[in-house]
Amino acid sequence: MNWSGSFVIYLVLVIALAAVLLPVQAITRNGFIRRKLRFSLLLIVAGVAYDIASYYYALHSQLPPETKAQFDLPSDIGILLVALATINAIAALLFNPFQQEKISDRYPRIVQDAVVVGAFVLIATSVAPERLFATSAIGGLVLGLALQDTLGNLFAGLAIQVEKPFGVGDWIKAGDYEGRVAEVTWRATKMRTKSGKFVVIPNSMVSKDTVVNFSKPSPVQRMSFTIGLSYDVPPNLIKQIAVETCAAIPSILREPAPDTLLTQYGDSAINYACRFWIDDFSRSDPIIDEFATLLYYRLKRAGLNIPFPIRDVRIARAPREDSVAADASRLAFVKKAGLFENLELADKQAIASILHPVTFAAGETIIRQADAGGSMFFVKTGVVKVIFESNGERHEVTRLTEGDFFGEMALLTGEPRTATVVACSDVDAYVLSKEPFREVLFQNPAIAEKISQTIVSRKAMLQEQANQITTLTIHLQAQEQQNFLVRIQRFFGLG
Ligand code: CMP
Repeated sequence: MNWSGSFVIYLVLVIALAAVLLPVQAITRNGFIRRKLRFSLLLIVAGVAYDIASYYYALHSQLPPETKAQFDLPSDIGILLVALATINAIAALLFNPFQQEKISDRYPRIVQDAVVVGAFVLIATSVAPERLFATSAIGGLVLGLALQDTLGNLFAGLAIQVEKPFGVGDWIKAGDYEGRVAEVTWRATKMRTKSGKFVVIPNSMVSKDTVVNFSKPSPVQRMSFTIGLSYDVPPNLIKQIAVETCAAIPSILREPAPDTLLTQYGDSAINYACRFWIDDFSRSDPIIDEFATLLYYRLKRAGLNIPFPIRDVRIARAPREDSVAADASRLAFVKKAGLFENLELADKQAIASILHPVTFAAGETIIRQADAGGSMFFVKTGVVKVIFESNGERHEVTRLTEGDFFGEMALLTGEPRTATVVACSDVDAYVLSKEPFREVLFQNPAIAEKISQTIVSRKAMLQEQANQITTLTIHLQAQEQQNFLVRIQRFFGLG
């Protein structure tokens, strides 16, 4: 018994195939193709090894010569292994980018595998139909029973790929889980939740359950935040504050516009749903947090409390003590503030009585450059930064802290705000508005003089920032100050 000609040709072809695949898998940049080609090489080695081993086994066996003669041809198993190797290699090279480290978006893994299996079954039925059909009836039954779940997952996975209710990278909710889809395989859909958990859900469960896709057809979606507020507060005021809060948060879309609905007259509060739209679901939690936090500060500044059942107990117990303590703390602040140091005690008391406490959140814009301004602020605790904006660039001019004041320029001259002021930390401040301040200035013109000095030096710093001038002479400053003083006196109708 000798190797037949066709066996030799077959072996040469198979070795040539391996010789092509070997360098190709070495030069591709795609790890997925590389793994697939290595698998094909392994199948080829197994197929050839099987045929050669069968040949030598027959050679040294006691089989009758006609039976032995069958072994100098390639076996069905060898051919099937090589066929599978070839289909697998062609599919890997055909569907996936050769130079990029990724699996084709259009033909995900599961589809590629389906093509390989389909083509292999076709070839197998033509190469070894008898063997296949003989085993298929019983084998199919056994396999079908054993792989019931797996096959369910497999077909569900294929249905997901064909119907494409979601794709890799989409944010979805499936079952109890919300996450970004990382991969859809034969068996399961894998996703990573916002808290970093890696969740694997069998495809059959995904296809049975309702799936919510947050990314498609559009990533724009509405968030809702529910809040309860006192029956004393007019609903329209709440709606206005909530909508203004949305406008101050860049991540909240202007269009569709935010709105607030009164949803329920509850036991201890009127409930509202503040609704706004976002286009980045991955940030929905921090955006809701930003809204809720800012809303708290804005409600507080407007003098509105978020009620709880214990609220009445607390308020009823010590309103007078609270207000006495607040008065004392305001007076102590005025006594320390440099701006008011020349005033008589009675004047200081008068000023203390017209200051209102306000709180700003870290990062919140307190004053916006070019806006009209009707109030000035005194920093009680915390730090703010003054930012000058010109030609679309923002330059930090200075930082102000406890005892400093800002917002006086627009208040006292009637001009637009000269700079933007942003809270660097949570800031407690006192706000002083125009009318009560006019009274104080009327009684104490020296304050106007003192403020006008501050205004002049602040203006000079701003001008330096704007690079319009680099130096100011003492003479100019004195003149400027005089101008400001006159303007303040005119604006406030003093003398
Ligand atoms: P106003 O123009 O009302 O609003 C912006 C405020 O920033 C301004 O008043 C000042 O109070 C403050 N401001 C502007 N320039 C300076 C500066 N150079 N140093 C400190 N504060 C400033």
